[in-house]
Amino acid sequence: MIVCSCAVISDSDLEQALIEIMSAPDAPVPTPGVVYRYLSKRMRCCNCSQLVVDTIYETLERLEAQGRICPYRSATAKAKLGRTGAARLRTNSREARLLLAAE
Ligand code: FES
Repeated sequence: MIVCSCAVISDSDLEQALIEIMSAPDAPVPTPGVVYRYLSKRMRCCNCSQLVVDTIYETLERLEAQGRICPYRSATAKAKLGRTGAARLRTNSREARLLLAAE
């Protein structure tokens, strides 16, 4: 399944990239930016960003359940991604309040 039509990235591409990223000794948090840079791709319209984040989460869960990535690294990455996602939600809520106040 294609998850990003601009950069032509499939869920299989994301899976392979996540396996390789998470296998590194100093594995970074696999944010969409990290994964795209790993694939030598760039986001253009960003319409896929939520789908990419969801696919990264789901793929991490599946790879961890299959024993293909270390569960400790995966847990750390998910916790950090969760913090990033929570910060984004707070920012979006703040923006929504500002938009409502301006009306
Ligand atoms: S669909 Fe992914 S950047 Fe446009």
